[in-house]
Amino acid sequence: MYPHECDAYGHLNEAGFLQLFERARWETLARGPGIPVFRKHGVWPAVRRATVDYFLPVFPGDVLEVQTTLEKLGRTSLELRHRAVRASDGAPVAEAYLVFVMIDGAGSPTAVPEEVAELFGSRLSTRTGEVVRYDVGEVTLAVDVRGDGPALLLLHGFPLDRSMWKHQVATLSGWRRIAPDLRGLGLSDAPKGGYTMAVYAADLMKLLDRLRVQKAVIAGMSMGGYVAFELLRRYRDRVAGLILCDTKAEADTEDGKKGRDEMAALAESKGNEAVAERMLPRLLGRTTQQTQPQLVRQVRDMIVRAAVPGVAGAVRAMRDRPDSTPLLATIDVPTLVVVGQEDELTPPAVAKVMTKAIPSAAMTTIAGAGHVTPLEAPTAVSRVFAEFLEAVREG
Ligand code: MLT
Repeated sequence: MYPHECDAYGHLNEAGFLQLFERARWETLARGPGIPVFRKHGVWPAVRRATVDYFLPVFPGDVLEVQTTLEKLGRTSLELRHRAVRASDGAPVAEAYLVFVMIDGAGSPTAVPEEVAELFGSRLSTRTGEVVRYDVGEVTLAVDVRGDGPALLLLHGFPLDRSMWKHQVATLSGWRRIAPDLRGLGLSDAPKGGYTMAVYAADLMKLLDRLRVQKAVIAGMSMGGYVAFELLRRYRDRVAGLILCDTKAEADTEDGKKGRDEMAALAESKGNEAVAERMLPRLLGRTTQQTQPQLVRQVRDMIVRAAVPGVAGAVRAMRDRPDSTPLLATIDVPTLVVVGQEDELTPPAVAKVMTKAIPSAAMTTIAGAGHVTPLEAPTAVSRVFAEFLEAVREG
């Protein structure tokens, strides 16, 4: 930054900051295809709101880096965050939040063209791995997208969120890792009702469409596995492979359904603290409970911060899910079954029966882990995922 951008006190002034943010944004596009992409679709991104927070003074000679992330992709809007940090020590100096509305030649709001959405999605979110909100119709989903390559869709369990995949999102390079929060959980919108496996699956298809993904390997942990079965039932041609992690194919028994009604009532009357109390002892393996107290706290926090309607909705969606056992013999994509040795909810014996029923599925047991293997034994899980994914890519 230069002296002429400073005010009488020697600080980078406000106008200078705004210019800096503008330049950072246009430089992202200048790497092409850039501005012609707006012209081609007859649209223009108009700034509708800008908020700037200033944290530290900046002086001539300071070198600043601006990181730009896509925070939300709506039907007609885009929301971006610019973070300016001092290059010498990484200290955040200012942050700008901008809301753009896509307008047509007449100045009316119009849908963000897919090509523009794709441009922002790949330039910003996949480079940084920051969470982005994608409008998929009735709701927006919070999604981590990272890396390039064939797509891997990571579906979390109940009552968890996309952060249970953070190690796999960070490490499975060579794949475009897409980890959404299912509607109602994590940072995704949580409408009051209307949760079913079919609704989750339809949301995910719209998400893949938005990300221009034709086929993905689907990794589903527990409830994520139930959703993976639904995707297979309804959208088989979009599934390139399957990882079934600590999950099962059977529907709930009558007793199980009663248990679901109690759990939904517990969430609605006593909140998620009570859900966490009830679930934690069986969710995490005994080794984790004894040796990783931090992880126990992290999973508890994940449950407690979820929205109650989303938790109750997920419980009812699981209660009403169809039996997926008839599907198993028809699975004709590469399939890996992963299970924690100490998983009490979907134990290794259940995983074994499921593996046998799927033609050419392989099974791996993860030592020292319970039901949430991707978090409890992240290195081992990432390694078996990576080996399987390599085989899928080569096959
Ligand atoms: C999960 O981890 O997703 C749940 O335990 C699944 C279930 O309750 O059936």
